[in-house]
Amino acid sequence: MRQILLIVAAMLLTCCSSESDMNAQTNTNIGKTLIVYYSYTGNCREIVNSLAAQVTADQLEIQPAEKGLKYEANNYALGTQLLNAIKANPDDAASYPAIDPVSVSLADYQNIIIVTPLWWSQMAAIMQTYLFQSRDQMAGKTVALIVSSYSSGISQVVADAKRLLPNVTWAGDALWINNSNHSNRTSLISTWLPTQNFQTATTAIRSVRTEGQPQRAYTLSGTLARADQKGIVIQDGKKIIR
Ligand SMILES: Cc1cc2nc3c(=O)[nH]c(=O)nc-3n(C[C@H](O)[C@H](O)[C@H](O)COP(=O)(O)O)c2cc1C
Repeated sequence: MRQILLIVAAMLLTCCSSESDMNAQTNTNIGKTLIVYYSYTGNCREIVNSLAAQVTADQLEIQPAEKGLKYEANNYALGTQLLNAIKANPDDAASYPAIDPVSVSLADYQNIIIVTPLWWSQMAAIMQTYLFQSRDQMAGKTVALIVSSYSSGISQVVADAKRLLPNVTWAGDALWINNSNHSNRTSLISTWLPTQNFQTATTAIRSVRTEGQPQRAYTLSGTLARADQKGIVIQDGKKIIR
């Protein structure tokens, strides 16, 4: 009986050999992914539908507070006006168009995939508002970016994302989907996804372990070993004779 108990204790300690490992395994946001998107004419929504079929993720749609606006009317006058206001004062919250309140807590997620339209070569103003407002909660997350445009290249949108989210880890290069390859989005996404370094439960645990101090040692009965403990202890998943 005693032998069985010792074996079970040793097995448990091998997989959870420090407090930080245990924290990592019980931290519910590890590896969880949120897709955040805005879509005015529906293309980004279609991209999100294709994406959601390939990754396990929750979704958050950002909506402008003011409904029924025509951003493209009068040669895109309103869209231009919103972007110019941001450009003139990017650090001022008042420069960004209002959005509906968001109830999703970013604390519940480790990976964020942003899906946004391009407007005048920049990130659509509505998505810029969300990123500006949530930049502190985004800090430390792993973030990926998908941009939908008619034909324009996305380098300025990538620059906007980096300005708005200075303290995140970028999962990899952004994916550009445009009018000529939009119908091919499922295969574009499936090729792109493996290039992104998302946090998984395994990578998160590994990073917690390597960032921590030297692993604590435990006795075979599972209690924390004293500094002068003699005999067999378990440290970093290995049995050590002291
Ligand atoms: C205000 C505004 C400005 C736009 N500017 C550009 C542009 O400069 N270059 C481009 O290729 N597409 C531009 N587009 C087109 C969108 O980027 C494209 O249609 C995108 O797929 C829209 O995504 P959505 O349908 O999810 O809103 C613009 C669209 C709007 C509404």
